[in-house]
Amino acid sequence: MSRTASVLTLPVSALRPGMFVLAIVRQLGQKEVATSGYLNSEQQIAELVAMGVQTVQICPTRSRKSTEQQVASEDSPQEKCRSEGNTLKIKRLYSEARELQEKLLSQLKQGEPIDVGPLAEVAEEMVDTMFTHGDAMLCLARIRAKDAYLMEHSMNVAILLANFGRYLGIERAILKELTLGGLLHDVGKIMTPNAILNKPGKLTDEEFAIMREHVVHSREILGQTPGITPVMLEVASHHHERMDGSGYPLGLSGDQLSLYSRMSAIVDVYDAVTADRVYKQGLQPTQAFRILLKGAADHFDGILVNQFIKCLGVYPVGTLVLLSNQRLALVIERNAEQPLKPKVKVFYHATARHYLDVKVLDLAKAGCSDTIESVVEPRDYGIELEPFIG
Ligand SMILES: [Fe+2]
Repeated sequence: MSRTASVLTLPVSALRPGMFVLAIVRQLGQKEVATSGYLNSEQQIAELVAMGVQTVQICPTRSRKSTEQQVASEDSPQEKCRSEGNTLKIKRLYSEARELQEKLLSQLKQGEPIDVGPLAEVAEEMVDTMFTHGDAMLCLARIRAKDAYLMEHSMNVAILLANFGRYLGIERAILKELTLGGLLHDVGKIMTPNAILNKPGKLTDEEFAIMREHVVHSREILGQTPGITPVMLEVASHHHERMDGSGYPLGLSGDQLSLYSRMSAIVDVYDAVTADRVYKQGLQPTQAFRILLKGAADHFDGILVNQFIKCLGVYPVGTLVLLSNQRLALVIERNAEQPLKPKVKVFYHATARHYLDVKVLDLAKAGCSDTIESVVEPRDYGIELEPFIG
C-alpha cells in the first residue's frame, strides 16, 4: 500500500527526535543542510534552527514513532496549536480515504469481494469535518498528485459534492451518501485499459466508446455491492448524462435527471478540467466556471451551475493570487459576505521572487488595504503550493 500521500509539512518547532526528514521546505540564509535522514537528537534539531531552517517535510511512516501522534498529542492541549491539529486530522482523513480506495480498487481488479464499510465510515467523518472545516478540506482538494488521477479525482468529486450539497441545504445523511457515491463513482474505470485512460491527446471514436463503458461497469459493480444506496448509484450512473440528452450511457434528459445526478455532472466536469495531469496543466477555477456557464444552456442545470459557482466563491480556496502589494498568497478561507476579500496566506514576493515569512491575512479586516489583483499560476513562479496548505 502506498504511503506516498503521508507526508507532513511541519514547522521546525514541531520536530522531535526519531522523525524522518524528507526535505527542507523553507530556510532562511544560505547554509547547506542535508535534506533527508533521521533526527537523532534535540541537539540536531537545534542545529537546524540555528541554520535558519523553518519548515520541513517529514515522512510519518519512516519515523521511529508515530509522528502524527507525537504532533497531535503536543498540539491538542494548546490553544495556539489547535488549527494545526485540525489540519493533521484533515490530512489523515484524506490519506485514509485514498488508501481505502486504493485497496478497494486492487480488490476489484483481482475479482475479490469488496467491503465498502470502512470507506463509508471515512465518508461520514469527511462530511462531519466539512461542517467544521469545509474550507480546509477544499483547500487540500486543490492539491493533487498528477500520477494518481482516478483516486484524486474521486476524492475531490466526493469533497466537492459534500460541500455543494451542504451549500444547497441537503441533509447530512444524504451528504454522506453523496460523498461515498463520489468516492466510488468511477470504479468502473478499473475495466478501462490504461492506454485509453491516460492517453494525452484526443480519443478516437473507438477509444471514446470504450471509455464511455466505464459508467456501465461502475453501475454493475456497485449494483452488486452491499451497502450501496440509490443515491450513490445515481451519482455513479448519471454523472455523464446531460440535460439535453446528449450525455451517456442512457441519453437521459431534463426531468429524468435527479438533483444528485445534475450536481454530479457539474462537479465531475469542474474537477476534471481543473486537474493537473502528467501531460497537461489544469485550468484555474475561474476558467472552469466559464466552461460550466457555457454548458449551462444545454448540458447542465443552469440554476445549479450558478449555485455551484457561488458555493465555491470568486476565489475558491486553494487559489494562488497576486496582491496589490506584489505578494503572492494562497486563498485559505472564503468570505461569504465579501467574496472579493477572502482570508489568505501570504508567503512569496512576486517581483523580488523569494519566499517570505508566512503570514495569514484577512483582506476584509478593517485597516487592511491590500486587495487581490489577479489569479496567478503557481508554475509561473516555480512554486509548489502543497507546503503552504494547512
Ligand atoms: Fe466518469
